[in-house]
Amino acid sequence: MPDHSLEVLVSADEIRRRVAELATEIERDFPDGPLYLVAVLKGACFFVVDLARAIRRPVRLDFIGVASYGRETSSSGRPTLTKGLDCSVEGADVVLVEDIVDTGATLEYLIEYLERQRPRSLRIAALLDKPERRLRPVAVDYVGFTIPNRFVVGYGLDFAEDYRSLPDICVLDR
Ligand code: IMP
Ligand code: MG
Repeated sequence: MPDHSLEVLVSADEIRRRVAELATEIERDFPDGPLYLVAVLKGACFFVVDLARAIRRPVRLDFIGVASYGRETSSSGRPTLTKGLDCSVEGADVVLVEDIVDTGATLEYLIEYLERQRPRSLRIAALLDKPERRLRPVAVDYVGFTIPNRFVVGYGLDFAEDYRSLPDICVLDR
């Protein structure tokens, strides 16, 4: 990809260690009962798969899709649902798994959608948090890494669909 330079911000090793810690917190918080990890396509796919395998209790997986139109590297703030849940999560514990919380608009929208599905509880896990950019107040229960206001790619995160498969999280400079 021309004209783009990549600098490692969080290495694959650091990610692995942190994901294991988050998994331990989640299994402590939810010792029994059905537990759904609901991941947001596509950015959270790598994270949710590693997280699910690190949680030493049964979990169920589901995926939701959301699009924020009119953005290149920043959200327009008006998300729409492109894929709803396949499973009913009514009465179950749900952890919504996101790649990154930026303005918070996507998360705010998804929380509203999931609350309408009447789970027993709803918590939020985000691999990355960019608090400087927050416009909507959302409480994230499990944060992987708090990062500065830079555009990052890798470990699921993309720029125009490129770079998702990088093992590290990198700052993209254009
Ligand atoms: P929010 O609605 O502004 O919180 O935006 C959240 C969504 O924007 C994330 O789920 C990502 O898909 C995308 N996003 C925000 N910041 C980045 C970034 O640094 N790299 C890649 N995608 C990002
Ligand atoms: Mg996303």
